[in-house]
Amino acid sequence: MAKLKAHYVCQACGSDHSRWQGQCPDCAEWNTLVQESAAPTVFSQKHDLSTGGRAIELVGLDAEVALPVRVSTGIAEFDRAVGGGIVPGSAMLLAGDPGIGKSTLLLQVAAAVASAGKGAVYVSGEEAVDQVRLRALRLGLGAAPVKLASVTSVRDILTTLQGENPALLVIDSVQTMHSDLIEGAPGTVSQVRASAQELIRFAKERGTALILVGHVTKDGSIAGPRVLEHMVDAVLGFEGERSHQYRILRAVKNRFGGTDEIGVFAMEGAGLAEVPNPSALFLTRRDDPVSGTAIFPALEGTRPVLVEIQALTVRLASGATPRRSAVGWDSSRLAMLLAVLEARCGVSFATAEVYLNIAGGYKLQDPAADLAVAAALVSALSERPVPAEAVVMGEVALSGEVRQAAHTQLRLKEAAKLGFEEAWVPGGVEAKGIKVARFGQLRGLVEKVTGR
Ligand code: TYD
Ligand code: MG
Repeated sequence: MAKLKAHYVCQACGSDHSRWQGQCPDCAEWNTLVQESAAPTVFSQKHDLSTGGRAIELVGLDAEVALPVRVSTGIAEFDRAVGGGIVPGSAMLLAGDPGIGKSTLLLQVAAAVASAGKGAVYVSGEEAVDQVRLRALRLGLGAAPVKLASVTSVRDILTTLQGENPALLVIDSVQTMHSDLIEGAPGTVSQVRASAQELIRFAKERGTALILVGHVTKDGSIAGPRVLEHMVDAVLGFEGERSHQYRILRAVKNRFGGTDEIGVFAMEGAGLAEVPNPSALFLTRRDDPVSGTAIFPALEGTRPVLVEIQALTVRLASGATPRRSAVGWDSSRLAMLLAVLEARCGVSFATAEVYLNIAGGYKLQDPAADLAVAAALVSALSERPVPAEAVVMGEVALSGEVRQAAHTQLRLKEAAKLGFEEAWVPGGVEAKGIKVARFGQLRGLVEKVTGR
């Protein structure tokens, strides 16, 4: 019999290694490799896997299939993000920073489902029953028939639920759950995995939609094993800045729908309010245009969101190294735009400090915002405002060419809907219902802003 080799499994990412190391070579976490007892391999005549099994009928792709039935939660922004309502028997993982509003959101969702008579169970492993009740009172949901428990034992939860058949089961959070089939404290990889497995099995058997709350580590990944993300049908991220009002619910993975829709909420005194028209959230409409701002029609999934880009330049006494600072925008992309402006258009920021900010705490990653950022920068430097009724979009190449953005028409339609009259776009763009100014080169934009 072959000698059994010990193997070491990373408790953070689940990767398997033949020898112990201080740092996991796969995920770079320290002290996460743990020796696992190698199960004795049974060598028998049956080790040839091509015989002795059950032959399965292979089928074609084209057949009548029922679309997954979806249950509307009654919270339209939530339904939209998960792909049109929750799917019975599916498991979802809701991840987000502490304090972002996961418990608030799910209590509201549970209350909406329960109030519609569909049955919702909310299990908190983090808060006492009274804490959850107090929150419900604050949210004005005290009367909703949510079934509530504060418990961490998966066995207790599943035993209790034998007599129940809820449409929705919320577990807040999976890191607090404990399965007595496995050793170890709640929150460890094996506990999280085992607890999730049992809860997901229950959901599939009963046709209950399960939502697990998952904590996020400081680098933004979901705490616990990566495998958790593979075990669930959908991973939802709840994002936003805690100091800002807005929150975005986004499907990172969705076996039952797309990942291009988002739900937008605003955290208010009485919980999360739905924001059906997100553009209004990020725009400050003013009558007099101010220099250094430009409006960019961003896209969140397939939804246009108009955001305001603000730039400020401060003249420096010669000699000092000027600061460049960007909030909500990639600072190397800012450096690139400054370089293109200097090299291709002769606009120099060498003696100015440059500050760039995306209003409302919004984070922009779309390269189509280049032109709007450039417009804000040139406007700030020249102290000549971009017209308040104009939106600006287009990607800027290192050559100074302005390129088309994805979904141009969608963005222009939203801008027109919100009362913008003019669009500054790359060459070749046609649009109805809005006046367009086209720029093939960045130089053209600079001339338009500075009036020279
Ligand atoms: P919470 O749902 O507890 O966050 P998480 O479960 O993601 O850790 O919400 C946290 C914050 O939300 C809390 O700091 C206060 C704020 N909040 C409001 O602003 N309004 C409200 O009505 C509620 C319930 C919370
Ligand atoms: Mg919470």
